[in-house]
Amino acid sequence: MSGPNKSYDPVEVAPLKGEHVDEMVAAALAAFAAATTTSTLNEARIAHTGDRSPLALANREIGALPPQARKDAGQRIGKARGQVNKALAARRAEVEQAELEARLVAERVDVSLPDPGPMRGEVHPITGMIDLISDVFVGMGWEVAEGPELEAEWLNFDALNFPPGHPARELADTLVVEPVEANLVMRTHTSPVQVRSLLDRELPVYVVCPGKTYRADELDATHVPVFHQVEGLCVDKGITFADLRGTLDHFANAMFGDIRTRIRPNYFPFTEPSAEVDLECFVCHGDSVGDPHNPCRTCSSEGWIEWGGCGVVNPRVLAAAGIDTEVYSGFAFGMGIERTLMFRNNAADMRDMVEGDVRFSTSLHGLAR
Ligand code: PHE
Repeated sequence: MSGPNKSYDPVEVAPLKGEHVDEMVAAALAAFAAATTTSTLNEARIAHTGDRSPLALANREIGALPPQARKDAGQRIGKARGQVNKALAARRAEVEQAELEARLVAERVDVSLPDPGPMRGEVHPITGMIDLISDVFVGMGWEVAEGPELEAEWLNFDALNFPPGHPARELADTLVVEPVEANLVMRTHTSPVQVRSLLDRELPVYVVCPGKTYRADELDATHVPVFHQVEGLCVDKGITFADLRGTLDHFANAMFGDIRTRIRPNYFPFTEPSAEVDLECFVCHGDSVGDPHNPCRTCSSEGWIEWGGCGVVNPRVLAAAGIDTEVYSGFAFGMGIERTLMFRNNAADMRDMVEGDVRFSTSLHGLAR
């Protein structure tokens, strides 16, 4: 603010002259009239009535005038501000009314349109996959077996020939349920159902066991801490590795059509010999192997993708269930159901499988059947 203006000089306070004030009012009214939306009107409000507007600045000069001039200027500015505020309020009412009318038109609901019907749900793709896999095996005369997700450590590990210090028992992988002395774990695979089936059923045994399994993993695009496996177990007289291969090929063809499988040696305590089952890459069919111009993201140009584990049932597992290993032999396999869904239906992100968004389920409609 200016200091006291002892010798009143009208030039110094030009903004307070009548014609200047009239110009400010005219500019404000023109800006309000030009504003057609709440936001442009708001800008005009700040420019013409805000703290830094010409009228507000002029108002601040009043105090510097001698008494009579101060009274005149005060009245003039006061009147001008009143006029501007009134015009602003009137314009705001008009603009808001126009906006409301536009919105009502835009959001109009045509009640005469036909009802699109209720939105359809769909079984979850994992459930659909489990049904499909079960059907394949039931079609071959197998039975579907079930076991608990909270499992005895003995069945999850010991009866499957996991030695006491085996790394898979470590807390980092296995979710142990308190009290620790109860020796209960969230099952880390569906293989304990092998033992349960052998203890509960008459021989021969042909079962598949689909279900939830648990490992201490972080959720990301390729890992979920709660996932699904399908276990297969056959124990009969004269069963060999050839029966295992034939069964796996049939299973793979039922899932993926005409596709080749490959087995690679591996180790599992409960099967001997053991193998990893790979599927021919369903995207490049092996064409990307050794071809740097044609890389395949799905199989990292390996030509094969891992599907699960398998092997001939270790006689120690049969013996733990009281079965005569001279007469009976068998094979077992375990596949990831999420992986099967990823390969079969191109579901690239595992997180979609746990989020429960019905759009994911309906997007795979018909594919999992
Ligand atoms: N249980 C094994 C796993 O979770 C898979 C498997 C099942 C291997 C049956 C061999 C036989 O990795």
